[in-house]
Parts: sequence; C-alpha cells; structure tokens
Amino acid sequence: MSSIDSLLHEDRRFPPSPEFAADAVAKSDLYGQASADRLGFWADRARELLHWHTPFTQTLDWSAPPVARWFADGELNVAYNCLDRHVADGHGDRVAYHWEGEPGDTRTLTYAELTAEVKRAANVLAGLGIRAGDRVAIYLPMIPEAIVAMLAVARLGAVHSVVFGGFSADSLRTRIDDAEAKLVITADGGYRKGKVFPLKPTVDESLADGRSTVEHVLVVRRGGNEVAWTEGRDLWWHDTVATASDEHEAEAFPAENPLFILYTSGTTGKPKGILHTSGGYLTHVAYTHRNVFDLHPERDVYWSTADVGWVTGHSYVVYGPLANGATSVIYEGTPDTPHPGRWWELVQKYGVTILYAAPTAIRTFMKIGRQEPQKWDLSSLRLLGSVGEPINPEAWVWYRDIIGGGTTPIVDTWWQTETGGIMISALPGITTLKPGSAQVPLPGVSVEVLGEDGQPVGNGQGGLLVVTEPWPGMLRGIWRDEQRFRETYWERFADAPDGPLYFAGDGARRDADGDIWLLGRVDDVMNVSGHRLSTAEIESALVSHPWVAESAVVGARDETTGQAVVAFVIVKASQAEVATASEAAEVLRAHVSQQIGAIARPRQIFVVTELPKTRSGKIMRRLLRDVAEGRELGDTTTLTDAGVMQVITDRLR
Ligand code: WTA
Repeated sequence: MSSIDSLLHEDRRFPPSPEFAADAVAKSDLYGQASADRLGFWADRARELLHWHTPFTQTLDWSAPPVARWFADGELNVAYNCLDRHVADGHGDRVAYHWEGEPGDTRTLTYAELTAEVKRAANVLAGLGIRAGDRVAIYLPMIPEAIVAMLAVARLGAVHSVVFGGFSADSLRTRIDDAEAKLVITADGGYRKGKVFPLKPTVDESLADGRSTVEHVLVVRRGGNEVAWTEGRDLWWHDTVATASDEHEAEAFPAENPLFILYTSGTTGKPKGILHTSGGYLTHVAYTHRNVFDLHPERDVYWSTADVGWVTGHSYVVYGPLANGATSVIYEGTPDTPHPGRWWELVQKYGVTILYAAPTAIRTFMKIGRQEPQKWDLSSLRLLGSVGEPINPEAWVWYRDIIGGGTTPIVDTWWQTETGGIMISALPGITTLKPGSAQVPLPGVSVEVLGEDGQPVGNGQGGLLVVTEPWPGMLRGIWRDEQRFRETYWERFADAPDGPLYFAGDGARRDADGDIWLLGRVDDVMNVSGHRLSTAEIESALVSHPWVAESAVVGARDETTGQAVVAFVIVKASQAEVATASEAAEVLRAHVSQQIGAIARPRQIFVVTELPKTRSGKIMRRLLRDVAEGRELGDTTTLTDAGVMQVITDRLR
C-alpha cells in the first residue's frame, strides 16, 4: 500500500448502519466482558460454541511459556462438533456445502450426508491402520472429498497435513518426510483453467524411491486422467469409502490432541510445520467466524474463496463454518474460468450473503473492470471480508462500491497460519470502518505495536506487531522443532515483564485514533497474492540448478499481487556462453516452478555478474529491492564494491 493511498483515504469513515447493527451477532459488550475477565470470556465461548464430551475445569495453563495448554482437562471430538451434533440438533437437512466444479458440475452436501460420508471415510482410514496421533497427508483439489478427508482424520484423533495441490513432488515429499505421514489422500487430477492438472502422478514421483513412511495412497477419481497404479499401496476412494459402513462412533480426545500440521514458509529454506491442537483452535475459529462474519447460520450463504491448502481454507472453509452449522459455497477452479465473471455468477446462483477473499483477487477484478460484476445480481451480498495481505484503500472502496453495492461492511482480517484464527478485525455492526486498516484486536485478543526498544509506540507511529497474551487458537509449536519455535516467535521480546510476547513478523502502525495498519513482513518472507513464500527457499531452488553460482531473491512491490518474486542470479562462467541471459532466465523460472510449485515462479530473473554485499558478506537485499522496484538506489556506502550496483542497473536497462 503506498503512503499516498493512505493519505488520500485516511479520513474516510464508514459507521455501521442502524439496520445492520440492530440484527448483528456481535454486541459491543463483548469488549467489556473480555477486558473484565479475559480467561472467563474464552471459557464462556468454549462452552457456548462447542460440545464437550468431558467438560474442562481449567481454562489456560501458561505456567511454562511459550508452551500453552487450553481447556486441557476437557475432551471433545472435533468432527463430532462439526457434524453429528448438528444432525442431532435437527439440522441434518441443512446444506453444509454447495460445491461447484470448474467445468460446471455441482454437488450439494447436507449436514446429514456429509456426516455419513465422513463416517465412511473414517472407517476406511481406521481399516488402513490410522490411529490417534498418526499423520495423514492430503493432496487434493477443491472437491468435497478434501473436506471429508480432513474431518475423517480429525474424527480418529489423527493429524492431517494438507499440502496445496500446486506444490511440486519435491515439496510434497519434504512435507511427507517431516511429518512421517503413513497415508496420502489424493486424486487422479483436478480442474484448473479448463484443463485437468494431474495430482496422482506427482504423488507417484514424490514416492518413487520407495523409501518414505507412506504405506497407502488413497485416490479420489476426479480428473479422469490416466494414472499408474502400485498394487498393494494404492486404493481407489470409490472402491473403499463409497462401500464402507456409515456407522462410526466419535471417540473423545483431550483438548490438546494435535489436529493438524500446516507447513508455511519461514526465513530459512525449510518450511515450518505449524502445529495446531483441538479444543482451543476450534473455540477460536468458531467464535471469530460467528462474530466477524456476523453469521446467521439458518439463513446465510457464506463463501470463502480460499483453497483448503492454506490456513484460511482450514479455519474459514472447514472448521469455523462447520462448527457453526453454516451453509457454505466451495468452488474448484480459478476465478476467470470459463469467463471472467465466474465468481459473480456463483454469487448470483447461490445467493451468497457473505464473501471472504484476498486483496489480490479484488485488485485483479478492478483491472478487468466493473462491467464484469455488473452483469450479475450481487444484491444478496451483505458482508465482505478481506484476508492475507494489506488491502489498499482504493481496492477497499472498489470492493464495497462495486461488489457490495455501496452498502456492505468490509472486515479486513489480520491473522496468520500461526495464530490459527482472526486476531485483528473490525466487528460489523459495531466498528466504524476505515478503508485500509485492520483496526482493532478482537475481544479476547491482546496485541501491541512495539518499538525496537520493546516499548509501545504512540499513536501516529510505527513498529513491530506483537501479541501480548496467549490465545486459544495459537500454534502449539513447530512440528519436531521446538528450538525454532522458540527462536522464531518468542525470543525477540523474551524479556517483557509479564512473560514472553509473540512476535508476528509484521510491521504495523497506529494511526491518530490508535487503530492498527499492517505494513507487511519485516523478515525475509514475501507475500505474493496472499501466499507466504520464503526468499531462502527460492534461492536454494535456484542454486540447485547446475547453471547457477549464486542467487538472491527479493519481494518487489506489485500492483496486483501485492509483492512479486524477483530473483538476481549469477550464472556460472562455463554456462554463460551456452545461453543468453533471457534464455537462462526462462529456464530458471521453469526450474523454480518445478522445484517448489508454480506459485513460487519468479516474475523476473535478472542475470547479473555480481551481487551487492556488505563487508561481512551479507547480500544487501534492500538495494536489490530498490532495483527491482525501479527506485533510485539508496545508501551504498557499505558496499564492498561500489561498482556492483552499476553492473546490476546496467543490466536492467
Ligand atoms: C499477512 C493468512 C495485512 C501478514 C491468514 C501475515 C495480512 C501473513 C492480513 C500471514 C491483513 C494476513 N492485512 N496483512 N488483513 N492478513 N496478512 O500465514 O503479513 O498465509 O503475517 O495467513 O499474511 O500469512 P498466512
């Protein structure tokens, strides 16, 4: 977000309409209740929103920070909370998901049908030896089976690790190995941009050496593409799940039983396995989903456009909405297939009332123009959400005017894979909205913006965002890497008087009213279209190519995707003759895509002869970013060789 944008719009305010406020789920006394008794507030939410097989007596154990235990002596079953109890409450006929495939095929699953399907899948998984605590990798397109698979794993007290279908064989294998998954659930292929993209072949490639921990591969037929078959290891979903019994009793597990691992990029080349557990996580996502999205489950049609491969897909496609008994829309394909108005067609078709999307998508639609959404009837929409990256005020106002008919509130929700659920957001019907700002922590959540000295900054100042008190949805660790967990999140502000503070890795500013504006990452993590990518991971993919001697990657500002991956590489002398710079750049872009996945493919690769370094040998990314964003170069006095940047800028001309 450019500072000009914020200057232009900082004075715009949108107070809640009286009609919206009158009927809003969130009442302003939530703030008072939470500040009077924070732990009591969360205990009330846990009791009000979830079914406990064994009620908890203790809310939080924070006796050995950063190890947090929430509701630890309580027992529950996450899948039971998402499914069976709604059926038992008489809502079996309510639609859980309206699913739309990219080619236009559709399926509707009621709570009763989804419950039965999850029970069948749980029986199959149990038959394959999956027990509480075992890890299952899920590598599927956005089809109902992805959700069924997650819930079946959860039902057994096992742990899922969903890997986004766009990741490569190598990335999948790294995640399988780290979690020691026993089972992979995949599909032959899925639809994307009008074509079938293969998944099972990628799983086969990742397991080709026969040396992984994987015992079975369960395959959903979706794409209809040819697949190879490993007898004894591979099973079809339709041969097993479809014919299994739909009797399955949900067993209760302790609140701190692990629910899932989700890998996300950090500052090193190795992704972090973020670990979430059951009772606290489900409380947090159910509470935030209900209040932030003003969910009236009996009449709303809610659509979060995220893929289950990301945390938004976990918390606000699967667990939050199902815990609340919501009716959701899910869509397999890309927004522009087969026509650029596909999303708006779906809003009209299903009468979507609440839409949750990423700023990148909004900016892409802005570019296409208002004529596309204006072809459709979007009048069912009454609330819009934004997630994943800062939303610039221009895009915010466009979203409200063109998609929201000039009337809908917009909730800009700040959170992370690590936080599990939304932390900073307006509450619709209560907060006076300010385009571009995520504004205020939710009731029950305590955040602060600190200066380098660890002191809170004043209004009008910027600093680092921290969470000052534990919260139920917080990560419980990095899978099998406790040291990295402590170092990454808890060491930066370890000496705060009331115990260590959670360091989010984001910069933030408080405006004149004290509202929070997110300013982007302060570490070497990029945010491209709302997806986190690590500079180090892409650098190591680049140097794994035989042509590359050295590389440096930066996130450069991009009008549509927020940031874009820009790489600088030094090609080995022996190769410089073989290919031109532009041929090399093309080959290397494809290489990154093959190594990590298409989302990591650099927008640009510059072949250079040297990289700017400090005297201690550290690459000066700030300068590279200046170059990538076409700015005048900053201070270069600490460069070992002042000529280096000249070489780079010359190349770019
Ligand atoms: C960024 C996605 C500004 C932030 C839920 C954070 C945001 C990272 C917002 C987490 C927002 C997310 N405004 N920035 N509303 N939401 N971010 O783990 O940099 O994929 O640290 O979780 O996205 O990305 P993650």
